[in-house]
Amino acid sequence: MHRPRGHLGGVVSPAGPVAGHGVGQVGGHGVGHGFDAASLRSGPPSSLSSAPQPRPLENLAVNLAGMALPNPVMTASGCAANGRELHRFFDVGELGAFVTKTVMGLPRAGRGTPRMAETPSGMLNSIGLQGPGIDAFVDHDLPWLRSVGARVLVSVAGETPEEFGLVTRVLRNSAAFDTVVGVEINISCPNVANRGLVFACDPDSTAAVVAEVRKELPPQLPAFAKLSPDVTDIVAIARAAVDAGASGLTAINTTLGVAIDALLLRPVLAGITGGMSGPALLPVAVRAVWQLRAAMRADRLPAVPIIGVGGVRSGADALQLLAAGADAVQVGTAIFNDPGAPVRVREELALLLGTHGFSRIADVVGIAHDRTPPTPGPAPKPKPKPKTKPEPTHQSGSAS
Ligand SMILES: Cc1cc2nc3c(=O)[nH]c(=O)nc-3n(C[C@H](O)[C@H](O)[C@H](O)COP(=O)(O)O)c2cc1C
Repeated sequence: MHRPRGHLGGVVSPAGPVAGHGVGQVGGHGVGHGFDAASLRSGPPSSLSSAPQPRPLENLAVNLAGMALPNPVMTASGCAANGRELHRFFDVGELGAFVTKTVMGLPRAGRGTPRMAETPSGMLNSIGLQGPGIDAFVDHDLPWLRSVGARVLVSVAGETPEEFGLVTRVLRNSAAFDTVVGVEINISCPNVANRGLVFACDPDSTAAVVAEVRKELPPQLPAFAKLSPDVTDIVAIARAAVDAGASGLTAINTTLGVAIDALLLRPVLAGITGGMSGPALLPVAVRAVWQLRAAMRADRLPAVPIIGVGGVRSGADALQLLAAGADAVQVGTAIFNDPGAPVRVREELALLLGTHGFSRIADVVGIAHDRTPPTPGPAPKPKPKPKTKPEPTHQSGSAS
């Protein structure tokens, strides 16, 4: 059921109220941006009305490392809390999967305020993984998600690899665990034992965390490592994650930024740095997915499913990620402005895929790699001129 779209005015809070922070241009499906499904649906001008109408692709099913989903569109972690607010706008059971706010071992207050700032075509947040802790999550949030029939991808984190393992163990032993279709490992948080260096920036820390989570899960349950774009070699981090037992990859988390208040000449966010998300992130996400899929196609990385996330606010945006190599997509920041965005993106994507004539999602995954002309190699070096004997002069050569 798709409930009528309403306007939250910033009420769908990531982990606290964001009202008052206008994100008007962040998630907006503005003119000239993305794909206008309505115009396709309304069909061609009357003189052409006998032409066949594009039909949405009906079979949107995907299977990500054994995680069977009816469609490839999910929420992004932290952008729809734990589902209750979003459920006022559409049935969260309609999503491919609902991805929860990252949960850690203990309740956390998060960082100080202000925690959100607008940026051109995006926003910065420094929520700081505020949350109720894993015990409250399994007692209250997970049973509710189960009661509405949601397929749940639970995002887990910790300050140490052991905390990641502990959180996963509590989840695994919880009463509503059967609604969990997979775990997303949020490695974009600081490793307290390693000078606060983010796990996702170091292959060894990444591997340690993934191994701890993996050993607590039933072997058939997929675990996705969520990668940061703020690394030199994303393929090296992905390889460490997959080698340690990740069944798939989520790309990407936010990229780090700072906003300075131009009047006060000091950082806008209390935490100084924040994660940038929203439309400006789309090309960065497409790049990361592209690099991961290219590495898999070249056998430099084991082939595993990729979930693309970053800046998606239309079906055309989602299609970019799929064509670059993602098997599924997540919608995050767009939800703050348009709570129905995940369902709208799914509908637009279905129509676009139908218009292109695809019969299943798998046919479009990574297609842009096949359509890329081979990169021209270095220009051939000019051949050295053969050494020639000095040209005979007129006088000496052709005396006759
Ligand atoms: C307010 C906010 C809170 C977020 N919280 C989390 C989180 O708890 N865990 C996580 O893995 N990612 C978190 N993210 C990152 C998103 O899941 C997503 O990777 C990122 O925002 C890029 O997607 P988008 O441009 O569609 O928002 C958060 C993003 C925002 C904007």
